[in-house]
Amino acid sequence: MIYNEINKESIDKLMNIFYDKIKADSNLGPIFKSKIGESKEEWDKHKDKISNFWQGQLLRQGNYSGQPMKAHIDLPPFPQEFFSIWLNLFSQSLDIIFDDNCKSIFLKRAQMIANSFQSMIYKYH
Ligand code: HEM
Repeated sequence: MIYNEINKESIDKLMNIFYDKIKADSNLGPIFKSKIGESKEEWDKHKDKISNFWQGQLLRQGNYSGQPMKAHIDLPPFPQEFFSIWLNLFSQSLDIIFDDNCKSIFLKRAQMIANSFQSMIYKYH
């Protein structure tokens, strides 16, 4: 089903598709699994947290209150190119369930956040 509306239901669908791709990715999968774990319960919790993050970003809803920048600065070092892999998987996931308009809203915001993470994480490189 292609959604033309960003709401909790469509964001939750996006989380399932996106994090299946993340888990299957040979570069990103291990980074995520080492922090989040392997069990369905642990991943459901992560997906729910990130769904709330996106609800906050795009709908001003949800209960996310964390420090996303700090969470990424604290990760063990990984190559900057991994951000392109992340964004590609995110874009492919958006293609599966959103129309072009919703896709571009998500992608623009994700690119902006990815740029700000990168400028902090790699600032001394
Ligand atoms: C290569 C790029 C990325 C990697 C490897 C990565 C990895 C991770 C990992 C392992 C966690 C779990 C951290 C933990 O539980 O301690 C996490 C959390 C999170 N990520 Fe990413 N991430 C990337 C890019 C992004 C981008 C571009 C966004 C936003 C557009 C994002 C949003 C978040 C948020 C909101 C959290 C939750 C932070 C918290 O615990 O409050 N990530 N990420």
